[in-house]
Amino acid sequence: MPDQNLNPGQLALELPSALPAIAIEPDWKLQPRLWGHSLHPMCSYLASFPAALTHAFIARYSRPGDVVLDPFSGRGTTPLQACAEGRIGVGNDLNPFAHLLTAAKVEPATRAEAATRLASLRLGWNAGSAGWLALAGRVFADPAAATSLVPAAGSLDGPDAATEPVPAEVALAFHPRTLGQLLFVRSALRLDDRTDRFLAAAITGILHGKSASYLSELMPNTFSMAPRYVRDFAKRNAFASPERDVFDGLSKKLDRLYRGVPPSMQGIALLGDARDVAPRARAALRERGRPERARLVVTSPPYLRVVKYGYYNWLRTWFLGFDAREIDATLDDAHHREPYLLFLRDVLAGLRPVLTDDAVVVLVIGDVETDRGRRITGGVGLAERTWEAAAEPEGYRLAGVAMDDVAAVRKMTKLWGDEAGRATKTDRILVLGATEAGRRRALAGASNDVDWTWPSRALRAI
Ligand SMILES: C[S@@+](CC[C@H](N)C(=O)[O-])C[C@H]1O[C@@H](n2cnc3c(N)ncnc32)[C@H](O)[C@@H]1O
Repeated sequence: MPDQNLNPGQLALELPSALPAIAIEPDWKLQPRLWGHSLHPMCSYLASFPAALTHAFIARYSRPGDVVLDPFSGRGTTPLQACAEGRIGVGNDLNPFAHLLTAAKVEPATRAEAATRLASLRLGWNAGSAGWLALAGRVFADPAAATSLVPAAGSLDGPDAATEPVPAEVALAFHPRTLGQLLFVRSALRLDDRTDRFLAAAITGILHGKSASYLSELMPNTFSMAPRYVRDFAKRNAFASPERDVFDGLSKKLDRLYRGVPPSMQGIALLGDARDVAPRARAALRERGRPERARLVVTSPPYLRVVKYGYYNWLRTWFLGFDAREIDATLDDAHHREPYLLFLRDVLAGLRPVLTDDAVVVLVIGDVETDRGRRITGGVGLAERTWEAAAEPEGYRLAGVAMDDVAAVRKMTKLWGDEAGRATKTDRILVLGATEAGRRRALAGASNDVDWTWPSRALRAI
């Protein structure tokens, strides 16, 4: 029976799938928005799924000590939730920003390490602020000047060893003092160091947003507005960012992140193409003396032609020293339907060597109808086509399909406002077995009750 409270756009979501349904109650939709470990909301990430969704499958289809893999880990939701539940969470992504967020969550700094490093950064700032403030002042005075060079991210250089220009929109976004602090911290943090990486990831989460806890109020925290829009907006509104202290903001962010007990298990974050994740995941697991195969995969492959992870994160990628254009040129987000299906087939073929015989593979597939207002062909029915053209030919067995309609609408609404109701019809969740044994396990566990108290009593005992 369709819900009477849904608007007509949403009624379309009730359309049945051509594939058999699996009897999994979508009770993740009933959980609070921030359900799950306190590290999850480290930084917003486009098209991420809620921790509650991944828990629904981790709880049903894995046990403590099992390896749980996400070859498209994004901000690390699946591997973090797996680690927090005593599983070995392995995340992989080709986007260095996603890799950084995943690594920060599955190999987090301890609270003491983060506090010590923050204290040393404050001391460094106090000792050298004059030079950094002078540099920020020069950048601010003439944001468009190519002569306003700054040190590279992670270079450990001081304010005088400047090597690269700052995009004009970066200077527009911050108060000059905040910009000086950011230039200092950006140069000082080394992303190959666990603690520094954690702090850098935490800063990306407070870089921009519409409240006093963010370092710039120029843009929402969900994504960076287009640079040209930012320039026009700042000019039209004579925008001047209020002064925000990076160290105070970071300290408060750390308090929020460490609200929960750190995950009981350390996970693995890999940077690379999902098509060849298997050998890299196995080598990393072997190196750590862990089981080499995953019993569960929970993942959402890139949406079809909707999201540009570099472009919509340009301020964060600038802070981290990543090239936004290069990210968008590398990722598999721009495919049309047929090449996309071939891509997914390669991914599923490539996964096999890292799966146990009874592995369950959960694919959250976004059915996309329009791309920011423009109709795209082939987006709807993508889950069905994924089964027929990518999974079945690679010998996977179908347990069934579950729906995630409301969550999808909410997610895209965050992104595109009212246009969103039409952007994504529904997410369909394909539940597959790596073999017949996996399919049977998927069917047998589907109706199991899931404990939604967090952290659950059983987990506190791990
Ligand atoms: C829908 S998002 C996953 C979001 C994730 N479930 C979360 O909760 O954050 C898809 C991800 O696929 C990544 N991606 C795109 N092409 C890739 C490829 N060839 N290999 C690995 N990752 C890729 C993108 O960077 C993006 O993070």
